[in-house]
Amino acid sequence: MDCALQIFLNDQWIDCAQIEINRGLCQWNYQVTYAVEHTDAPLSLAEPVDMDIRAARSLPAFLSDLVPQGAGRRFLLGELELADGPDADFPLVRAGALNPIGRIRVAEAVDYFENHVARHPDAHGLPGLTLDDVVVRSAEFKERMFLHGMLGTGTTGVQGAAPKYLLTRDTAGLLHGDAVLPDADATKHLIVKLPRGNGAADVKVLRNEAAYMRVAAALGIRTHAELPTLHGDVLLVPRFDRIARAGKVVRLHQESMASVLGLSGFDLRPSLFEMVAGIRKVVTDPSAETLEFIKRDVLNLAMRNTDNHARNTALQLIEGKVRLTPLFDFAPMYLDPELIPRALRWYRPDTRVELTDWTDVLAALPVSEPERRMLALELSRFAVQIESLPNIMEEQGVDHDVIEFLTRSIDMQVRQLKALQPPEAHHAPSDSTYP
Ligand SMILES: Nc1ncnc2c1ncn2[C@@H]1O[C@H](COP(=O)(O)OP(=O)(O)OP(=O)(O)O)[C@@H](O)[C@H]1O
Ligand SMILES: [Mg+2]
Repeated sequence: MDCALQIFLNDQWIDCAQIEINRGLCQWNYQVTYAVEHTDAPLSLAEPVDMDIRAARSLPAFLSDLVPQGAGRRFLLGELELADGPDADFPLVRAGALNPIGRIRVAEAVDYFENHVARHPDAHGLPGLTLDDVVVRSAEFKERMFLHGMLGTGTTGVQGAAPKYLLTRDTAGLLHGDAVLPDADATKHLIVKLPRGNGAADVKVLRNEAAYMRVAAALGIRTHAELPTLHGDVLLVPRFDRIARAGKVVRLHQESMASVLGLSGFDLRPSLFEMVAGIRKVVTDPSAETLEFIKRDVLNLAMRNTDNHARNTALQLIEGKVRLTPLFDFAPMYLDPELIPRALRWYRPDTRVELTDWTDVLAALPVSEPERRMLALELSRFAVQIESLPNIMEEQGVDHDVIEFLTRSIDMQVRQLKALQPPEAHHAPSDSTYP
């Protein structure tokens, strides 16, 4: 069984690589013409464009980013009459990765979708939906979901457990499945995210996700210029991997940290030190991104976003620079009925003992002394902002019981961050450069 990968460059999809699976061995390579002409556009930041043939017992890690999960996975397993398990990943990607997040797709999945549409002639030229249609899950919306069978509406192209659709707004403001709206008509690309389950807690998590993102933005964390908004129990998340401009759509490279670290499959748990090392290896400005990543983790701890797995951090290539994407999936996950414990932790590289104090984490980070001092100073300044978190959360509409519950974890972060400030820094002018 094999598949062909395509990448979106300069307004068109071009063939770039092929993957073949034979008796459990997976081989893949960039196509020769691609390898000659596009050395600056790899499938993964960890897989430079070259002529090599790679062989392994597992799928290439970047392909796992394209494997349908959640509702889209369940739908396709039924269509393909497959039992669930890691062996289903490759057939699923060959059917479902027709229009994923990022700028890579699988040619066979595009064919699969075209066949699917041909079997449902009514799916052609449907009028757009209003936001209300989606929010109240109108008859129209349900019919549309069925006709496109979760394919045109992108459910198989976006990962994560919560049900999601990739919808795109046309020039008249109406919403369409992303895969069925021509680029020329697209004005805004959205992820429509629904609660993970039917319970009140699921709705509460999603409702607070919008407020959590506003809090992160207020604290200067990198967030998309357009923040998610809540409509009923539907979260509308503007996408940062698409830029619609003058009748054209730019698709940006986006890749999870699991892919950058070469982790194939799901539920793998690198330590946070490995995450930092992986980030530093590929980003344009390692110290700025290290600080950003640590600040996000401070917030994860203070605001108990426990679901910090390796696919909830991603990198993007934008204007020639590699950096962490804007923040996403930031929510009070401690409330989730599935009781999600903090997924990734700071395990000391040599002893594998968990470190839970920023002083120890910074001491163990393999960075130069000036950089360590910079991180300590910036994080100790961040303490002041973390101290005002309860007020900021209040202003941004986080639920009161959540704010109340976070008192202890916020205090703990403030105490730890303040302790990072070296005594002499009290007297240093605030705009001093780092020695
Ligand atoms: N604004 C965005 N722009 C582009 N891609 C995004 C955006 N938000 C999320 N994504 C991508 O979509 C995926 C799913 O989104 P998200 O993580 O919010 O879903 P989830 O169902 O809550 O995931 P999980 O299973 O981790 O709880 C992310 O892993 C990321 O790749
Ligand atoms: Mg997620």
